Amino acid sequence: MPYERIEVTPVSPVIGAEIAGVDLSQPLGNQVFQEIHDALMAHQVIFFRDQELTWDQQKAFGRLFGDLHIHPAAPAPEGHPEIFEVHADENSHRIVGPDWHSDVSCDEAPPMGSVLHLHEVPEPGGDTLFASMYAAYDALSDEMKTFLGGLSAWHESEKVHRAVFEHRSDQLRDGADTYPKALQPIIRTHPVTGRKGIYVNTAFTTRIEGLNRNESDAILDMLYAHIDTPEFHCRFHWQKNSVAFWDNRCTQHQALWDYYPQTRSGSRVTICGDKVV
Ligand code: SIN
Repeated sequence: MPYERIEVTPVSPVIGAEIAGVDLSQPLGNQVFQEIHDALMAHQVIFFRDQELTWDQQKAFGRLFGDLHIHPAAPAPEGHPEIFEVHADENSHRIVGPDWHSDVSCDEAPPMGSVLHLHEVPEPGGDTLFASMYAAYDALSDEMKTFLGGLSAWHESEKVHRAVFEHRSDQLRDGADTYPKALQPIIRTHPVTGRKGIYVNTAFTTRIEGLNRNESDAILDMLYAHIDTPEFHCRFHWQKNSVAFWDNRCTQHQALWDYYPQTRSGSRVTICGDKVV
């Protein structure tokens, strides 16, 4: 794909590319916006270096791609409900996103993408792994694709949100006393590329509808092991002011906590998406 205004360098054969030649703190022209969108569609996760961003600038960049999501359970900084803080230091007992997941897949219409900016990073350590759900789907046998194509699975947030945010249900942002959960197709079709990908993850998916517990656990365990295949992955090493922008509809990610007691800190904006089909 020809790019005229940005430089795009793939970081693996199947997923991930570094983008150069753009300052995300400034308004983007139509062509640059379109090229960034094209690069995201082609590579599923894109990385930028040396981006000094305020929360307002990060939100403005995210809003180019859609409305911003407000997390149902995570605390947000005063006046910035759309900012999801990602922070770990010597006092932390856990981090955000240590298991493979697609962000908030428990929502009826889960987010299309997420933009994470880190302003403080450990050295070494603190990398994020990304996995291509297109590559994982493509590698399944035709028989398994057909079998999974007719199934849906429940994605539930209570366990993960209570653990990560030490949360009580009466503190949910919208005042509801239930944590979001949704029944999602196991194989989803990307609304822009038309490609198929696997849409179950270890953080949120609890069971396959219509199968008994043993059957459901066995199929989900098989899929989780399959998604863990290194050939479907890329690994991003953060620097101060790096940005990662991933497409939640066709990727999963996992944050590594190998840097304790160092500090790793930044903010994410999450872009609303459509109902999964
Ligand atoms: C997340 O799941 O959004 C956090 C990813 C990271 O900290 O690398």
